Amino acid sequence: MRIAMFSTKPYDRRSFEAQPGAAPHEILFLEPRLALLTAPLAMGAEAVCVFVNDDLSAPVLEALAAEGTRLVLLRCAGFNNVDLHAAQRLGIKVARVPAYSPHAVAEFTIGLMLSLVRGIHRAYQRTRDGNFALEGLLGFDLHGKTVGVIGTGKIGAIVARILSAGFGCRVLAYDVHPDPALQAIGVTYAEPRAIAAQADILTLHCPLTPETHHVVRAETLALARPGLVVINTSRGGLVDAEAAIDALKSGQLGGLAMDVYEQEADLFFEDLSNEILTDDVIARLLTFPNVLVTGHQAFFTAEAMGAIAEVTLGNAARFAAKEALGTSEVTLAATVPRHA
Ligand code: NAI
Repeated sequence: MRIAMFSTKPYDRRSFEAQPGAAPHEILFLEPRLALLTAPLAMGAEAVCVFVNDDLSAPVLEALAAEGTRLVLLRCAGFNNVDLHAAQRLGIKVARVPAYSPHAVAEFTIGLMLSLVRGIHRAYQRTRDGNFALEGLLGFDLHGKTVGVIGTGKIGAIVARILSAGFGCRVLAYDVHPDPALQAIGVTYAEPRAIAAQADILTLHCPLTPETHHVVRAETLALARPGLVVINTSRGGLVDAEAAIDALKSGQLGGLAMDVYEQEADLFFEDLSNEILTDDVIARLLTFPNVLVTGHQAFFTAEAMGAIAEVTLGNAARFAAKEALGTSEVTLAATVPRHA
């Protein structure tokens, strides 16, 4: 099968070429992001392979379908960038990698949390400049703190376990499908407003949907304890970044770590160090000492990259063999996992 792979970086190419499953396919490794303008690059390809910031809106899917594309292979778990109604109407199947390494994202989340509350990101820069002073680096123990976990699927559940069993935090969680296994280890489910009011730290692990868009906004932040720390390794659209800036200025928000950003499509995965940053929101965020930004890096481990390539090529093989795509298939019907 001919596969047009968009948003390809050298590390993507290496991980796919290392897989035996790559051999039967003709893979076109393309650097550009998929958009209406770049869709013609997929001409003649039965499948397109895409990542988090590729555009799979209705006009793009229509352009792809007109040139013969029948399959979208997502190299990620989230599928908020795909218009599933349009895909269904056009007869395009959509397959994702439902789980590659939830540990990669969960462990990175904890890394961001620790770095932010203990000022490790600032200490790294200070000591390299010969500044060994501690002033301004006073942190707080995670032990005994209340952490709100929004979304307790594969990643959120691991985060909740690490925080509860590892650090001795009180974990309050919200999910449309509570996980009894987490309740059994002492995680308490509560309503989002109650969590916002009680949490010292809030960490987001739900998908981006119309219901979860700006789940952290001015109203949420106003409810919170002064000094709340927010960690977002899920999707940028979960946080209203402008409301976060206001709350950081007033001190109501005590820290923000974000691996994702609502407007990241124009920034992330590229070296823009020689450019003028025109996004004033991210530029302002980067001025706060208590804001830690990483460029959608949480998934980026050797284990996860190998699993993404293997599962994606498995999805391609099953489609080519006209077999069912199983749990990888994304349909309009319920895709939300139940834990019961
Ligand atoms: P998952 O599907 O296993 O879990 C998501 C959970 O969110 C489910 O338990 C679901 O019931 C819950 N949920 C759905 N709607 C909700 C709502 N309105 N409020 C609260 N909870 C809700 O997904 P997984 O693998 O745990 O991934 C979570 C998110 O992490 C993904 O949606 C993706 O956006 C993000 N992600 C980020 C990565 C990164 O590199 N930064 C890498 C992989 C995933």
